[in-house]
Amino acid sequence: MVGSRDSWDARALPSLAGRTYLVTGATSGLGFFSAEQLAAAGAHVILSGRNVNKLTAARAAIGRRVAGASLESMIIDVTKRSVVRSAAASLSSHDRLDGVILNAGIVHPPRKREEVDGHEVVLTTNVLGHFALAAGLLPTLAKAGRDYGTGRMVWLGSVSTASWKTIKVDPELTENYSGPRAYVQSKFMVQTLAAEAQRRLDEANVAVTSVIAHPGYSLSGRTEAVAGVNEVRRLKRFFANLQAPVSQSKELGATAQVRALIDPLVQGGDLIGPARTFTGPPRIYPAAKPTKLTERSRRPEVGRDVWEFCESATRTVWPFTAAQSPRD
Ligand SMILES: NC(=O)c1ccc[n+]([C@@H]2O[C@H](COP(=O)([O-])OP(=O)(O)OC[C@H]3O[C@@H](n4cnc5c(N)ncnc54)[C@H](OP(=O)(O)O)[C@@H]3O)[C@@H](O)[C@H]2O)c1
Repeated sequence: MVGSRDSWDARALPSLAGRTYLVTGATSGLGFFSAEQLAAAGAHVILSGRNVNKLTAARAAIGRRVAGASLESMIIDVTKRSVVRSAAASLSSHDRLDGVILNAGIVHPPRKREEVDGHEVVLTTNVLGHFALAAGLLPTLAKAGRDYGTGRMVWLGSVSTASWKTIKVDPELTENYSGPRAYVQSKFMVQTLAAEAQRRLDEANVAVTSVIAHPGYSLSGRTEAVAGVNEVRRLKRFFANLQAPVSQSKELGATAQVRALIDPLVQGGDLIGPARTFTGPPRIYPAAKPTKLTERSRRPEVGRDVWEFCESATRTVWPFTAAQSPRD
């Protein structure tokens, strides 16, 4: 095995041959490097993104960099409910789907409030899209959970949520919108969904784990150039390098979400993030010991409210019964 709770050697992953993983937002950044690391360990990786040219470039780049990579591409714009539904349906016909990294996201929100699909755009991209996608994938993940002991969903939280000092959310931000507030709130909601999903999975006895990963502070300007995927201007690199003491590359940041996805030591509800908060190798922060980052988002009453809001906003009810073992 490559690690213990506090250590993990991302350069020596166990073989993932035979496994299939989906990564959303795999066309750049953390999603791209997660997909690459999974492919390098032998997994079949489904790269998803909303832009066909970027998907082609990302797939070609991994193909160049990882000999024998087993890859597939799928267009999933997470803000488009019908696309999300049909992607989940098409994935159910795969032999197996061992896990998904719910990575796609807006990290630089618009300065002025915008809507997509009838909801504020950061909310709909970072929260609602993945709530609906995870619901659609649940029976397929549960099958892998039963058959192979895998079956995991990884939600992308953020260290920025440590600044979210309330348990209240105002999801649509119709009155008090600001880009940073929309982003931090969306990540707080994602963390609550991850914890609430695990509570509901346990209650329904479904063989899937739900975990949170965060990459610390990972900058494309501190990340190696990859043609067609990470082409960073000199000035951006200069400013990124000024933040070197508190930041890391996206390649390193991605190791947290990869660990969250594949490490058998990780348990439902755990948080996986850098050992030094913003930087460093990924370690496990167990669900049983909430940290500053997750204490509020783990509260059941917050989880219930956010869950019910997402059900109503997406008109989606998670198919827990369909995901239960036929023996239950
Ligand atoms: N970087 C950090 O330090 C940091 C810290 C905490 C959490 N995170 C989280 O990590 C995740 C990835 O961040 P990143 O830094 O790698 O950002 P990034 O480089 O901007 O990558 C974001 C990815 O999401 C995709 N995406 C955006 N909107 C989408 C949509 N509607 N449908 C499908 N894909 C969409 C983007 O595709 P396009 O190129 O087509 O836009 C891109 O592939 C995010 O969830 C972010 O909140 C990052």
